[in-house]
Amino acid sequence: MPAARHFSPVEFLRAKRDGREHAPGDVQAFVAAFLAEEVTDYQASAWLMAAFLNGLSPGETLALTNAMLHSGRVLTLPSVKGARVDKHSTGGVGDKISICLAPLVAACGVHVPMISGRGLGHTGGTLDKLEAIPGFRVDLNAKRFETIVREVGTCLIGQTAELAPADRRLYALRDVTATVECIPLIVASILSKKLAEGIDGLVLDVKCGGGAFMKDLKSARALARELVLVGKGAGKRVSALITDMSAPIGGTIGNALETREAIEVLKNGGPADTRELTLELGAEMLVVGKRCKTRRQALVLLERALEDGSALAVFRKLVELQGGDPRVVDDPKRLPTAKVRHVLRASRGGYVSSIDARALGLLAIELGAGRTRADQRIDAAAGFELVAHIVHEPR
Ligand code: URA
Repeated sequence: MPAARHFSPVEFLRAKRDGREHAPGDVQAFVAAFLAEEVTDYQASAWLMAAFLNGLSPGETLALTNAMLHSGRVLTLPSVKGARVDKHSTGGVGDKISICLAPLVAACGVHVPMISGRGLGHTGGTLDKLEAIPGFRVDLNAKRFETIVREVGTCLIGQTAELAPADRRLYALRDVTATVECIPLIVASILSKKLAEGIDGLVLDVKCGGGAFMKDLKSARALARELVLVGKGAGKRVSALITDMSAPIGGTIGNALETREAIEVLKNGGPADTRELTLELGAEMLVVGKRCKTRRQALVLLERALEDGSALAVFRKLVELQGGDPRVVDDPKRLPTAKVRHVLRASRGGYVSSIDARALGLLAIELGAGRTRADQRIDAAAGFELVAHIVHEPR
């Protein structure tokens, strides 16, 4: 039997400080030692900064992803037969897409096991939006998650403590050491959590623009490429779309308002941009899930599921099985509504040429729609309805 390999945290740090590439086994040993508290937080922080400054190769990023993925439980969903594909958005303002996309794709025959997040910074979170539905529960255990995915085709829950715990601990250090904005670390963080869901494929919605993490096309492309490369390296079918986040998606920002808008899309309506993004991501998911050979075929299936009410029926069942009041689906007035409303009128006529998504996201937090501390309660009814939309000048 080979002797257990000796791991020296200081040598590991020195290697990255000097810009050398780690062997995959050393990355794995580092994550294991960090979790076992044999590597201290200050050593891990020093390594994160060295990785931020000197970068990680795709091989190192894959090793980090795998080490973080296997630091906790990896779901396999054995009773769910057929393709399982999820979508992950890198975060935007007014991004309610998961709420209409997951039931729509499930209605077309691809399972969507989705573990989502809460609001982060100026961006909202799918879990908070779903919890605007009275009774809706996102804290289901793995067994119930699997049952609902099997029975309905989709289930949306929150991250549990058992999934990718190394990511949670490393993310907490990144947050306080200015090392969040680092593509390899973002890739490993996102993929380690998503791959723990028991999926075969993943479609990434990489947001680009003022309201997103990635402000310009160059950095959005770099993130998308790396996510796809490392995801494929982990043996999954992965594809990415880069989508606009210079303005909020759709006409609402705020939890109940966005859930209502997602329901409108499922009723074959909703704002044109929200519907289009849902269909584009859905088409990619049906192709990644091998349900359709081409995006064109996929779009036909998706549009039919919106028209014939099957996507809405999946959502209704999902709400019911996750403990929510399914009557909100047919009567969205049952969602919380703000008691105080204020109409902001432009002081003069004209047209809207841009909307600052990030500023509105931050204002929504101040209204109570998001949090500045993890333990804060949010107000499901708070938010904005955008009445005027951007008018693009003819080129
Ligand atoms: N979202 C994540 O889950 N991790 C990151 O590092 C950044 C965004």
